[in-house]
Amino acid sequence: MKIRESIESDFKEILNIQIQAFGKKEGHEVAGLVDGLFKDSTAMPLLSLIAVSKNQTIGHILFTQSKVVGSIKPVSSVILAPLAVIPSRQRQSVGSQLIEQGLKQLSESGIELVFVLGHPEYYPRHGFKAAGALGFEAPYPIPEKHAGAWMVKALVVGSIESAGNGRVLCAAAMDKPEYWRE
Ligand SMILES: CC(C)(COP(=O)(O)OP(=O)(O)OC[C@H]1O[C@@H](n2cnc3c(N)ncnc32)[C@H](O)[C@@H]1OP(=O)(O)O)[C@@H](O)C(=O)NCCC(=O)NCCS
Repeated sequence: MKIRESIESDFKEILNIQIQAFGKKEGHEVAGLVDGLFKDSTAMPLLSLIAVSKNQTIGHILFTQSKVVGSIKPVSSVILAPLAVIPSRQRQSVGSQLIEQGLKQLSESGIELVFVLGHPEYYPRHGFKAAGALGFEAPYPIPEKHAGAWMVKALVVGSIESAGNGRVLCAAAMDKPEYWRE
């Protein structure tokens, strides 16, 4: 398996992966989000990685720009969304490798914080922690019972502490309440 940045000709396949991974109904919504983000100047620069095995695209991860407002010190940040692996290749570490490669590249480009709204059992394996308790508000309120799904990871040691707190603003294409229901 190889992981590489996606190019324009991968686009159709990337949308197809969302539909396979999330199922038809939710998959179309997620594909719509990905399509919107690719066209959204406020999401740039984005990082889009695909996992390819035997010429087949089997996974995709997307990171887009975010802004933390109201923090004590300015901090650079991105949001991880979505992450998708085709069903026949799930639980074979494809998702984990996409996350790790993404975090490595973002770290090299100087990004300090990565936020995600996702499975609270999955992302802590990659060093994510509950973000609300650390003082970071999501773009839309996350219901108390799902508070653990809103997470953050620091790529630069001490950046959570120096930011202190803040409200996270996402790219325009993601700025819809339906994308923030966990
Ligand atoms: C979630 C997803 C991206 C994980 O990718 P993956 O390649 O299957 O995951 P990995 O192989 O790296 O990790 C597997 C581990 O993650 C856990 N895991 C996988 N999906 C999970 C989920 N939905 N909730 C909680 N844990 C999950 C499994 O328990 C597994 O651990 P185990 O092997 O010890 O049981 C993939 O299953 C997927 O595309 N699911 C459908 C789309 C989706 O829900 N995406 C949103 C992610 S927030």
